[in-house]
Amino acid sequence: MVKITGFSGSPRKNGNTNFLMETILKSAADTGWETDFVNLNKADIGFCEACDACHKSGKGCIKKDDMQMMGEKMKEADVWILGTPVYWWGPTAQLKVFTDRWYGLPRETFQNKKVILVVPMEDTEDKTASHVIGMYQDSFDYIGVEIADIIVAKGVLEAGAVKSKPEIIKQAEESVSKIQTKMKQMY
Ligand SMILES: Cc1cc2nc3c(=O)[nH]c(=O)nc-3n(C[C@H](O)[C@H](O)[C@H](O)COP(=O)(O)O)c2cc1C
Repeated sequence: MVKITGFSGSPRKNGNTNFLMETILKSAADTGWETDFVNLNKADIGFCEACDACHKSGKGCIKKDDMQMMGEKMKEADVWILGTPVYWWGPTAQLKVFTDRWYGLPRETFQNKKVILVVPMEDTEDKTASHVIGMYQDSFDYIGVEIADIIVAKGVLEAGAVKSKPEIIKQAEESVSKIQTKMKQMY
């Protein structure tokens, strides 16, 4: 069974990021996929200290926090949803700290993964999301992970504002079937 896990970097429980991620997860569940959701804002994930102990020992990060569990969740899932609102033209700190810690994860964590990016923001200009998208595009090119879909919700400021954007909701609802079609073409 295909497994999809959402990692949300939004601190707003009923915010736009989580609404879109839940929409994707619901359509995944309807498709028969196993689903999981992680609220990074509630997770205990410390900064990467660049001590390089993970690489020197080959045993992973020496920090004993929630990142070991996150690594397992990443490995178990076939598809990840990474969600973050744009904060100061970048991702939220919650998602960035999590991303920095990928440095200490074993290579197999990243094998054959597909990613859906979910990026809400107040601005209505595409370029405002370009750093978040570019950062993940370049990072995933580097580690060999495919970005299968990108959902940018422009012009949403208040929590839940995206609920009045039917075209974005439709994009989120159709994301899973889009990926499923790609998977069928591959196997
Ligand atoms: C600290 C902070 C920084 C933000 N920076 C930007 C920004 O640079 N560009 C933008 O368009 N929106 C910015 N926003 C607005 C959020 O991206 C927007 O409210 C988004 O819908 C929040 O998503 P959420 O509902 O999942 O929390 C910022 C919001 C906060 C709280």
